[in-house]
Amino acid sequence: MNKRLLIIEDDVKNSESLAKHFTKKHWHVDIVDSLTLVKDHLMDDDFCPDVILADLDVSANEMFKNSDELQKVTNFSEWIFTHDPEKDINVDEIDDLAYDILEKPIKHSRLEVAVNRAHRLATINRRLIKSSNTKKQLYQVDSYLGQSEAAKHVRETLSVLAEAPISAVTIVGETGSGKGLAARIIHHCGLNSDGPLIELNCAALPKELLESQLFGHEKGAFTGANERFRGLFEQAHGGTLFLDEIGDMDLDLQAKLLKALEDKKARRIGGEREISFDVQIIAATGVDLGEAMHKGEFRDDLYHRLNVFCVSLPSLSQRKEDLVELVPNIIKEYNSKANKHVTVVTDEVWEQLFNYSWPGNIRELRNVIERSVLLSKDEVLPAKWLQLTETCDIQKEQSNRYQSKNSITIHLDGSMNLDEMDSFIIQTALEQNDYNVSQTSDILGTTRETLRYRIQKYNLKDKVS
Ligand SMILES: Nc1ncnc2c1ncn2[C@@H]1O[C@H](COP(=O)(O)OP(=O)(O)OP(=O)(O)O)[C@@H](O)[C@H]1O
Ligand SMILES: [Mg+2]
Repeated sequence: MNKRLLIIEDDVKNSESLAKHFTKKHWHVDIVDSLTLVKDHLMDDDFCPDVILADLDVSANEMFKNSDELQKVTNFSEWIFTHDPEKDINVDEIDDLAYDILEKPIKHSRLEVAVNRAHRLATINRRLIKSSNTKKQLYQVDSYLGQSEAAKHVRETLSVLAEAPISAVTIVGETGSGKGLAARIIHHCGLNSDGPLIELNCAALPKELLESQLFGHEKGAFTGANERFRGLFEQAHGGTLFLDEIGDMDLDLQAKLLKALEDKKARRIGGEREISFDVQIIAATGVDLGEAMHKGEFRDDLYHRLNVFCVSLPSLSQRKEDLVELVPNIIKEYNSKANKHVTVVTDEVWEQLFNYSWPGNIRELRNVIERSVLLSKDEVLPAKWLQLTETCDIQKEQSNRYQSKNSITIHLDGSMNLDEMDSFIIQTALEQNDYNVSQTSDILGTTRETLRYRIQKYNLKDKVS
């Protein structure tokens, strides 16, 4: 196995003894005795240690001065520092770079545990970077399909955004209209594409959890904070933070978010120092933020901060001519996933597809085509599985036919996909509980926040206060 360890140590006796220990454990070990040599080594593309074990007593000051630069060139490696606690070294300065900081003397066995852990993390990070390269190929501007003027305009906008260092972008559009897709295209084609893309759904988490996810927390900052957690701003450093469903963020937290964006730094919960970050923000919303702002539900200063550039995605009903490109593409995708051979779309099917209003946009289209391809018997896309009755009609009909207090019956006959079942269960449970969200969330064994998120997602809001 090709595990590679770099030791920075000027005490030859110590470095040789470490090298002997780790070589026995199947590590390839390199030793250098000064930081200058390390920098030369690290500039070489072929030299890529998994773990770097550095003695701070050798060159602490130089390390501190260069920690930013070292972080950049050792993107693929994890650092473990050792130091003599008797010497006056401020290890906090190296904290951001360090996987671990250990006090000397340390037994080889203890060091080995830390090195192995750091190796596991380095391996995961490398895998993530590899998968990000695959994603780069997947999320090109052309992956946003459609030949309508509206779709072409979206692609032009995405291309412009990919080349401009814009600090914040807002994407607006109905559910299923491609906000997530557009965000990934902006990141993977953009100037920050070598950095991470971190996604957070603001509607899916309760306020406190959302705050600690965004800003991180120190060990012991609150009950349950058993470990230190690097917030998503920190994790997204050099890349993009995608805040989905931003319209659902609590007002207090909006203020904290704005401050962090303005200052480009934030404090972890329970933390003492501020940590700087450089991230592009993409915020997505299905609700009209302008209207939310007028109603006092969204801060206007945050609105303007996020709205440096706004991408507005058309709904599928506004660009139905794009069905001609979308449908064959989605059929092809599911043919290959399910080993089917659908190639024919009859006039009857096209007519139904064009006459439908597509409230769930492309996501709904994908579900309908998926179902039809999976249930196809030959090369013709079967009209009978399209089932394009407006969703609320199906739900009402099912709800009347099958519901009785405390039970919900769903017929597994292929007429609903998982999302529709989820929506149906929630709608029925709400009806059975007089639209009381607390009571319904108890019965469904979930939290109120999650239920509210889903109510919004499935557009079941009308009767819920
Ligand atoms: N123009 C497009 N071309 C091809 N595929 C698309 C297009 N727009 C959306 N899709 C696909 O449709 C599906 C739904 O899109 P996405 O998840 O991005 O929507 P969304 O606006 O984020 O929805 P929600 O508001 O529910 O989060 C995804 O599989 C996405 O890849
Ligand atoms: Mg989305």
